[in-house]
Amino acid sequence: MAQALVTPLIESGQFGAASIRAAVASEASCQRLAASGLQVSTNPEAAWACPVVVLAVKPQQLEAAASAARGQGGLLISVLAGVRLQRLQELFPRWRCVRAVPNTPALVRSGLTGLAWGPGVEAGERTWVRQLFGQVGEVHELPEAQLDPFLALTSSGPAFVALVAEALADGAVAAGLPRALASHLAHRTLAGSAALLHEQELHPGQLKDMVGSPAGTTMAGIRQLERAGLRSALIEAVLAATERSRELG
Ligand SMILES: NC(=O)c1ccc[n+]([C@@H]2O[C@H](COP(=O)([O-])OP(=O)(O)OC[C@H]3O[C@@H](n4cnc5c(N)ncnc54)[C@H](OP(=O)(O)O)[C@@H]3O)[C@@H](O)[C@H]2O)c1
Repeated sequence: MAQALVTPLIESGQFGAASIRAAVASEASCQRLAASGLQVSTNPEAAWACPVVVLAVKPQQLEAAASAARGQGGLLISVLAGVRLQRLQELFPRWRCVRAVPNTPALVRSGLTGLAWGPGVEAGERTWVRQLFGQVGEVHELPEAQLDPFLALTSSGPAFVALVAEALADGAVAAGLPRALASHLAHRTLAGSAALLHEQELHPGQLKDMVGSPAGTTMAGIRQLERAGLRSALIEAVLAATERSRELG
């Protein structure tokens, strides 16, 4: 996730790769990232000496990462799922903390990021953080309590959508299309439908009704989806991911 955020910064020319200090845990990641021109080390001291730090370790690695930040201070942007601002402030008392929830479509600059501000983050710093995440997609500033459902929908959502894409392609293969073509068509159908909903500001029910003609193919398929509980399954998936995010916090 850190790489997804930093790569566009470098590509846009705003920052030279040499001005960014990256810290990782393993020698293997160190060597892989050094090839991209970043100043990367397994020793986190240099990264913690920077005025702005993006913290993108796994939640279970948080305390180990925090121990290296002692004595330093600045602006800390955490992308850790479920880790509350209050916990960040406790672990990083000398840092002004921002909690960010980005998602993986940031890799293709179609990301969504939710932001909640900790105490003391200045106006100029807020502008900078908005610009950072704005480079990889849309930015939404929310009360911190809404970040859990935001994460469930936008960060876990790509995995839910990937399952739908795979299953649609499986159906087409079962009905006789070659795999590569079925996968391509499934992805393009999802992307095209999302673009239509978004650009024409359609309610999803309107799009369904546009496609579903009387006694036609679409209604035959929708009967099966309703019988299988597709809508309920997706609602429960987002609720379960929200609950898990709250548990992690
Ligand atoms: N992936 C997503 O879609 C997504 C979305 C929103 C938020 N997030 C959050 O982003 C965070 C990172 O997720 P990820 O998928 O990017 O995980 P990841 O690929 O495992 O990246 C974690 C990185 O942290 C490094 N690291 C571990 N301990 C460290 C330490 N003590 N000091 C410095 N670096 C250390 C690891 O180094 P090595 O490479 O050497 O192991 C690794 O490069 C998670 O907290 C997750 O909740 C992820």
